[in-house]
Amino acid sequence: PQKFTVPRFLAAKEKNQKITMLTAYDYLSAKILDDAGLDCLLVGDTLGMVVQGKSTTLPVTVDEMIYHGEMVCRAVQRALVIVDMPFMSFHISPAQALENAGRILKETGADAVKLEGGVNQAKTIEAIAAADIPVMAHLGLKPQSVRAIGSMGKIQRDEDQLIADALAAERAGAFGILLEMITAPIARKITETVTVPTIGIGSGSGCDGQVLVTPDMLGMNAEFHPRFLKKYANFAADMKTAVQAYASEVREGTFPDASHSHS
Ligand code: KIV
Ligand code: NA
Repeated sequence: PQKFTVPRFLAAKEKNQKITMLTAYDYLSAKILDDAGLDCLLVGDTLGMVVQGKSTTLPVTVDEMIYHGEMVCRAVQRALVIVDMPFMSFHISPAQALENAGRILKETGADAVKLEGGVNQAKTIEAIAAADIPVMAHLGLKPQSVRAIGSMGKIQRDEDQLIADALAAERAGAFGILLEMITAPIARKITETVTVPTIGIGSGSGCDGQVLVTPDMLGMNAEFHPRFLKKYANFAADMKTAVQAYASEVREGTFPDASHSHS
């Protein structure tokens, strides 16, 4: 399969081809997602929640991103792999950010990194891009800002500020812009304003591509159903049914049977 490179990512916008992205955290899942033909896999710092069971993304470390990023990259042949820069891995200085972005690329084999910010991180985006490390900016709901904004419900939705952030990110050299939980009209306007592709989550159909958190869209968390999420499967229920069938067959002595035994 022909690798989905950063130049192909950029060309998709010109050709009006929607870009497909989902999150990935481990080898077997990444292999299935890549085989399914997705353009991009995001090793998101959502792993703090959906893998580690924490309540925010704040505790996730660079070493943990590298651990998961490396497993994902080992499985992938075609997709563009983007790894999140976790909280406090890029905030101290552009030099600190560049060092961590370089570590992530070198130690995982990923294609790109992503960080939360626009105008406030323009110098950092510039430093990373100047080293030829493709970097994506993440605007709108920025989960790493949860302590400052008070709750995840308080989303940056000021149109002028969002457009200024998107333009600053593009000017600094970002190859793409992720828009989380932005109203559909503003997301469409940003998409029409910048020349690099936008990837939306909860931001309507006007973006150049879409991303969802894989365990969420597979229905692995029965209690989580926000408006923006479409569940394409019911993995939590399916897994429970399979596990219960196994347990009852073991208890009844019907598994293993002769066909699953060596004589
Ligand atoms: O960490 C993540 O999975 C993300 C997506 C929600 C876009 O940043
Ligand atoms: Na993230």
